[in-house]
Amino acid sequence: MPGDIPREDLVTAQSFGLPGSADLRALLEAPAEAPAPAEGYYFAAPRQAEPQGRTSRHPAFDVNAVRRDFPILQERVNGRQLVWFDNAATTQKPHQVIERLAYFYEHENSNIHRAAHELAARATDAYEKARETVRRFIGAPSADEVIFVRGTTEGINLVAKTWGAKNIGEGDEIIVSHLEHHANIVPWQQLARATGAKIKVIPVDDDGQVILSEYQRLLGPKVKLVSVTQVSNALGTVVPVKEIVDLAHRNGSLALVDGAQSVSHMQVNVQEIGADFLVFSGHKIFGPTGIGVVWGRKELLEDMPPWQGGGNMIADVTFERTLFQPPPNKFEAGTGNIADAVGLGAALEYVEHWGIENIGRYEHELLEYATHYLRPIKGVRLVGTAREKASVLSFVLDGYSTEEVGKALNQEGIAVRTGHHCAQPILRRFGLEATVRPSLAFYNTCEEVDRFIAVIRRLAKA
Ligand code: ALA
Repeated sequence: MPGDIPREDLVTAQSFGLPGSADLRALLEAPAEAPAPAEGYYFAAPRQAEPQGRTSRHPAFDVNAVRRDFPILQERVNGRQLVWFDNAATTQKPHQVIERLAYFYEHENSNIHRAAHELAARATDAYEKARETVRRFIGAPSADEVIFVRGTTEGINLVAKTWGAKNIGEGDEIIVSHLEHHANIVPWQQLARATGAKIKVIPVDDDGQVILSEYQRLLGPKVKLVSVTQVSNALGTVVPVKEIVDLAHRNGSLALVDGAQSVSHMQVNVQEIGADFLVFSGHKIFGPTGIGVVWGRKELLEDMPPWQGGGNMIADVTFERTLFQPPPNKFEAGTGNIADAVGLGAALEYVEHWGIENIGRYEHELLEYATHYLRPIKGVRLVGTAREKASVLSFVLDGYSTEEVGKALNQEGIAVRTGHHCAQPILRRFGLEATVRPSLAFYNTCEEVDRFIAVIRRLAKA
């Protein structure tokens, strides 16, 4: 297999026809269980796919059928068909989501006060159905534990400014990992500044994997919360959150899992993980921007003070005092993002249609394919080589700034993010301020990877 490199003189390599690449292609096209990767390779063993066809509730995974659902993938950029490799920043939307939003505004639009009139009832039902879809998607015990917010950042801020303000005091400790996005650092820093608490950081090894033995050394009686990402947005490392949560609980600490980069790639079940809070964003899982989720255990949510005050979240108001609604309404002050919550529900149903295990398996093989070709290119330094990775290839190329690489790719219609990815501490851990970061989704193909590899090879040779 090594050495089957796309022809570097072509910007668009002859995809699916490269000599010797049939074995990798076969992995992507095979509907059944894929063989384990070669020993010593740094990917997790592929998850076993659900049985497909007549015995499965999912259709056989067909990337061309998936692509037909995403109209923007037909867009042309600089005369070339768009290649969207910026999925860790945001994902594209299938027509099922786009049409659901249009349907809402054409037939259901109202504020959510069910009893007032027919459209209010339709809007309320659509909004609450979306909440139930989220509950099912993350395996939560109750839809009352699902709070709609703007996104992951707002979700972590909500927990920090409600649960955190009530439960974290001077001398207390909050553990995060070195992999965190700024959204899982800054709110805790603000809380620590306000209360006199301390932040402690789980280090990572040279592959970008959290060092569990060091984590265990950080645990102690003062640790009130462990807040970790499940997948690093900058490196793609999959973090063993179940183990981290278990250890936190044995220590008497609570645990928050940032699912922003994981929910679109792997099954995330809050009861299996055992976390106390999970947060994620709709736009990173094929839903609209401006909508996201905080899931929290009921007892915790009931005990937490509200964050914002206003309409929708009250039971009774006088000038002297206010009685609040129970969760989730207590945390949804004002008119929320009703239509986009409904759109998020449609996005999750779309993912359920294909099956998250099938999606994860396809993406895993695609990442393996891309890494196999990128890593040996002279001058490429791949940053983040964890055994378990999800959909991210972060790299730098000798002789080029990351912006130059990004611009060269854009010239060919290929969108990647360059820069610090809102995760400066982890890039600095590797001595870098910026990387080029292609990030994959289940509508990407080997053909698109070939186009990307051809550009990098051309730059590397120049
Ligand atoms: N968190 C997003 C990213 O990683 C914006 O690009």
